[in-house]
Amino acid sequence: MELNLSASILSADFAALGDEIERAESAGVDSIHLDVMDGHFVPNLSFGPATVASVRTRSGLPFHTHLMISEPLRYAGAFIRAGGGTIVFHLESDDEPAAVIRAIRAEGGRVGLAINPETPAEAAEPWLEAIDLLLVMTVHPGFGGQTFLVDQLPKVARLRAMAQTRELALPIAIDGGVTAETIGPAREAGGSVLVVGNALYRNAGDLRPVVHALRTAAEAAADG
Ligand code: DX5
Ligand code: ZN
Repeated sequence: MELNLSASILSADFAALGDEIERAESAGVDSIHLDVMDGHFVPNLSFGPATVASVRTRSGLPFHTHLMISEPLRYAGAFIRAGGGTIVFHLESDDEPAAVIRAIRAEGGRVGLAINPETPAEAAEPWLEAIDLLLVMTVHPGFGGQTFLVDQLPKVARLRAMAQTRELALPIAIDGGVTAETIGPAREAGGSVLVVGNALYRNAGDLRPVVHALRTAAEAAADG
C-alpha cells in the first residue's frame, strides 16, 4: 500500500497553526493529523471542532481527526461538519463501536479506528471490514515527542496479515514516536500511514529536507 506521510500538528506552533499546516503541505506531506484530547480519555487537552474548521480553510490535504476522547458518539458529528475528514475514534472509548461507526457514516464522514498499546490485535479484528483506516498507537496517547514503542510492531504485522487474509485494502496508520529511525521498521511491519509530529515540527523553516529524509527512510524499508 502506498506510503502516506501524515503531519501531526500537536507539536506545531499553535499561534500560527494555519501557517504550520501550509509549511507541512508545501514540504510534501500527504495528509494532516489532528489530535483532539478531552482531558479525560487522556491526561491532556488540545482543541475542538472550531479549530478544525479554521484550519480546514488553509489546506487542500485530507484530514485525519484523531479523537482521544471518552465520548466520540457525542462529538463525531461536530468534527465531520467542521471538515474533519476521516474521524478516528478509540476502541477503548466509552461508546459502542458499531454506534460510533454508524453515526460517522450517517454524517458522511470516513471511519478510522484507533487502538492503544495495551489493546490486542484480536480486539480490532471484528471491525476491520467496517472501517476505512486502522490506527495503531505506538506511544501511550496524550503527548507528542514520546519514544516509539517497538513492541507494538508484531501487532501491526498481525493486523496487516488479518486484513490481507480478508482481502481488505485497509490502510494501517502508525501514530507516536515516528522518526527517521523508526519509520522504516513501522513501514516494514505493514504501516502505510505514518504519522509524524515532533520529528517534523521540532524543525524550523523549510521542512522539505525533513520530509525527504523520512520518505527515503520509509521507502528503503520493504513494502508491507
Ligand atoms: C499522541 C498523538 C500523536 C502524536 C504524534 O497522543 O496521538 O498523534 O501527536 O506525535 P509524535 O510524532 O511527536 O509522537
Ligand atoms: Zn494522533
